[in-house]
Amino acid sequence: MQTWNCEFLGVDDIAGVMDLERMCFRTRWTREQFLLGLDRRAFRILGIHERGVLVAYVAFSLIAQEMEIMNIATHPFYRRKGLARRLLAEVLNICRCENALQGFLEVRRSNVGAIDLYEKFGFIQVGTRKNYYPDNNEDALLYRLDFSPIVSGPA
Ligand SMILES: CC(C)(COP(=O)(O)OP(=O)(O)OC[C@H]1O[C@@H](n2cnc3c(N)ncnc32)[C@H](O)[C@@H]1OP(=O)(O)O)[C@@H](O)C(=O)NCCC(=O)NCCS
Repeated sequence: MQTWNCEFLGVDDIAGVMDLERMCFRTRWTREQFLLGLDRRAFRILGIHERGVLVAYVAFSLIAQEMEIMNIATHPFYRRKGLARRLLAEVLNICRCENALQGFLEVRRSNVGAIDLYEKFGFIQVGTRKNYYPDNNEDALLYRLDFSPIVSGPA
């Protein structure tokens, strides 16, 4: 299986991120939102390039030991090749290195692929936000991941 290298993205990569946004989402972030977020260090973006073209990215925040996955997307031609899995694994590694306690994300109820991905990483559904998405009133499912180490009892 191919090994995908991921790296932090910066302002120069935002055009590529916007291209993926257009291909992957019905409701999209604007270029200004990405630039502001990077400028204020509100979130970080990891990406995977293939022959110089950005083919997947994940945006996440890690503030006060709480992580949030804000967006994750893979170019339609590159799906089911493990790119999102690689990105998410890297985010969770960073979280563990930086002593995160818990992580959250929201996902559309109908997004079975993304839900399967998150559940494989141990995210557990902890709530529902009814009619959350304004484009079609779809519910958002709220998922949580607990980073606290498993403490084993006495032998
Ligand atoms: C969700 C998304 C990011 C997955 O990206 P990807 O690079 O194709 O995912 P991976 O190849 O790493 O898949 C890892 C696992 O996720 C699950 N998965 C991913 N896509 C799936 C699909 N269409 N159906 C079912 N399971 C899926 C599977 O468990 C998969 O493991 P497997 O291939 O061994 O079965 C991608 O489909 C996408 O960009 N969708 C549009 C944007 C989006 O919905 N983002 C999520 C917002 S919450």
